[in-house]
Amino acid sequence: MDDGNAGSTKVLAVCGKGGVGKTSISALIIQLLLNERAGKILAIDADPATGLATALGIQPRKTVNDIRNDLIGRVESGAGGDRRGMIEHLDYEVMTALEERGNLAFLAIGRPEKEGCYCQVNDFLKEIIESAARNFSYVVIDGEAGIEQVNRRVMERVTHLILVSDASARGINVAHTIRSVADSAVLYNTVGIILNRIKDRTEIEAVRMPDDIPFLGWVPESDAIRTCDISGGSILDLKDDSALIAVKSCIERLDENAHRDPAYTGL
Ligand SMILES: Nc1ncnc2c1ncn2[C@@H]1O[C@H](COP(=O)(O)OP(=O)(O)OP(=O)(O)O)[C@@H](O)[C@H]1O
Ligand SMILES: [Mg+2]
Repeated sequence: MDDGNAGSTKVLAVCGKGGVGKTSISALIIQLLLNERAGKILAIDADPATGLATALGIQPRKTVNDIRNDLIGRVESGAGGDRRGMIEHLDYEVMTALEERGNLAFLAIGRPEKEGCYCQVNDFLKEIIESAARNFSYVVIDGEAGIEQVNRRVMERVTHLILVSDASARGINVAHTIRSVADSAVLYNTVGIILNRIKDRTEIEAVRMPDDIPFLGWVPESDAIRTCDISGGSILDLKDDSALIAVKSCIERLDENAHRDPAYTGL
């Protein structure tokens, strides 16, 4: 891993079927990057249920959708101002919504409440998030199930698409589908799959692996994660846990796979 610099931000999006461990794996990746002193890290919680905030022990005061809905309300009441004023307002609001803890900053996207096409506001917000992201070495996005929500609500494209599945055929099928959607819209540079909550090596041998997604490795069922979940504690406090060690080697493998991609600049 390099220490990064402006213009070479690595954007990791963690996607997969509901409940397979996206949030836990995202939090473990963030902890690894913090431990490696990999520069400044932006964690983005793109799940409306804001599970990543809990896993990181952060309570966001404001989400991007609060900002969006507030602006839409102002526009609808005729108080939106001109385009430049709107962008400046949104930019300021997003900066104040960032929760900072040392090298870690956190941004929650939240749940869109106002339906309808507010495409211009959405596009402004994406541009603002993208430009804020350039100040970080790494961005880790805890996605909803698919990457299209990330693409619609957070960023146009990511550098690393990390698919997470459990050992189930359904979980792996969802990973396949996410990859196909991401491929057709060219939404990432490099991809890999992590299998989570695996009991032991024999279980892995029984899994029908996708042959077209590089396998990054498997993460064991971890008592420490379960305990953390029960107590509501932060995954950032886990030390030397088997899941943390496993995620480290998965992330290192993401690099190996990526060398074949000419567009890739290294993790
Ligand atoms: N390796 C693991 N060992 C033990 N428990 C785990 C592991 N990974 C995840 N879990 C537990 O499984 C549950 C689901 O994990 P998590 O919330 O990370 O999944 P998710 O994919 O983010 O879910 P959602 O789709 O609802 O956002 C949680 O209770 C979590 O603590
Ligand atoms: Mg989650």
